[in-house]
Amino acid sequence: MNDYWGFKMAMTQDDLKRAVAQAAIAYVPADCIVGVGTGSTANFFIDELARIKHKLRGAVASSEASAKRLQGHGIEVVSLNDAGELPVYVDGADEITRHLHMVKGGGGALTREKIVAAASKKFVCVCDASKLVDVLGKFPLPIEVIPMARSYIAREVVKLGGHPKLREGCTTDNGNIILDVHGLQILNPVELETALNHLPGVVTNGLFARRGADVLLLGTRDGVQTITL
Ligand code: A5P
Repeated sequence: MNDYWGFKMAMTQDDLKRAVAQAAIAYVPADCIVGVGTGSTANFFIDELARIKHKLRGAVASSEASAKRLQGHGIEVVSLNDAGELPVYVDGADEITRHLHMVKGGGGALTREKIVAAASKKFVCVCDASKLVDVLGKFPLPIEVIPMARSYIAREVVKLGGHPKLREGCTTDNGNIILDVHGLQILNPVELETALNHLPGVVTNGLFARRGADVLLLGTRDGVQTITL
């Protein structure tokens, strides 16, 4: 973005999110059902999808909030069970590395996000530059937990070196609670994701490393960077 004198004007975080949302449209094939994530960046993507809705068969949403926004634009929301494999899933992240491993779930929709991502051929992650990190863990790692397992999982997480905190006032779309785990330095995301998956009572953890992103569209002041493995 240039001003009258040709200097770069300060781009806001929202400008960067809008830019990556626009860039993600190129990954959406004509006549498809597209997987749609949750959060402020995904919201920009939904708004961009509205411009090409005549070319879409519909969308699978990873949260009630995204489903509402899609429907508000007149885009048909299809259940994943009826949609089959999706060509592409577009979503944001709370943190992402150059290995395209992510922490997600800041918005609480991690379980549905992980399901829709798993059912999609390609995961396109859309982020502003602030989300790119060398090591995951500064953003507290969300874990969705069956309510009766809360204390047990909290004790197990402490053994793994984390400091769990109950997300107050939060019930997920699936009726569960979220523990946000602070103080982790996640050097082996695949291993930690697997270890957490094995704890009875954990529904989903917010590490997306076993199935990371395939493409990262990163919004920077110098334009949208495309990062792949
Ligand atoms: C939602 O549960 C999260 O996984 C979001 O994808 C993540 O929090 C990114 O959200 P923003 O685009 O709002 O930063």
